[in-house]
Amino acid sequence: METVKRKILFTKEIIEKRVQELAETISCDYEGRELIVIGILKGAFVFTADLVRYIRTPCLVDFVKLASYGTETVSSGEVVMSKDVELSIEGKDILIAEDIIDTGLTMSFLVNIFRERKPRSLKVCALLDKRQRRETQFEADYVGFTIEDDFVVGYGIDFNEKFRDLTEICIIEK
Ligand code: IMP
Ligand code: MG
Repeated sequence: METVKRKILFTKEIIEKRVQELAETISCDYEGRELIVIGILKGAFVFTADLVRYIRTPCLVDFVKLASYGTETVSSGEVVMSKDVELSIEGKDILIAEDIIDTGLTMSFLVNIFRERKPRSLKVCALLDKRQRRETQFEADYVGFTIEDDFVVGYGIDFNEKFRDLTEICIIEK
């Protein structure tokens, strides 16, 4: 088996605490309203599962799958939706849960598509934000951690489909 060196960036405990804090802020912002939380497959599946369990307002859950063409570690900005949501988002409060915002091209693409469907509100919650890599003006409404330009895996996030099962978030050296 190929060995990839990795070092822990955020432990399970740190992630859990931060996700709870995000959920608390979101719970206050949406008090008394029903949210549709839309996770981005596959990278945000763990984050979405944890987030909805800590949010105190009722959440419906759905997923989209986006495919972006590019190399193993750099997205090309050409995004296609390979699986759409099953719920109607028109007139609803929508919160997108994303693992990482890097260039911002993926989220800009999705937000533009969703806006055309006339949700009541539309916000983005990203666990990780690689701010310095941005190629669009995109800003998430809620951010877990701002990180440097390193390649990370774990807590749902992969490198070539591997490491999604790690409980911590690690930096890998390739
Ligand atoms: P963007 O369109 O450049 O913002 O791309 C964001 C997407 O690139 C994320 O949803 C991830 O799937 C992927 N990505 C960016 N950085 C990393 C990383 O460090 N590890 C794994 N995937 C990443
Ligand atoms: Mg992704």
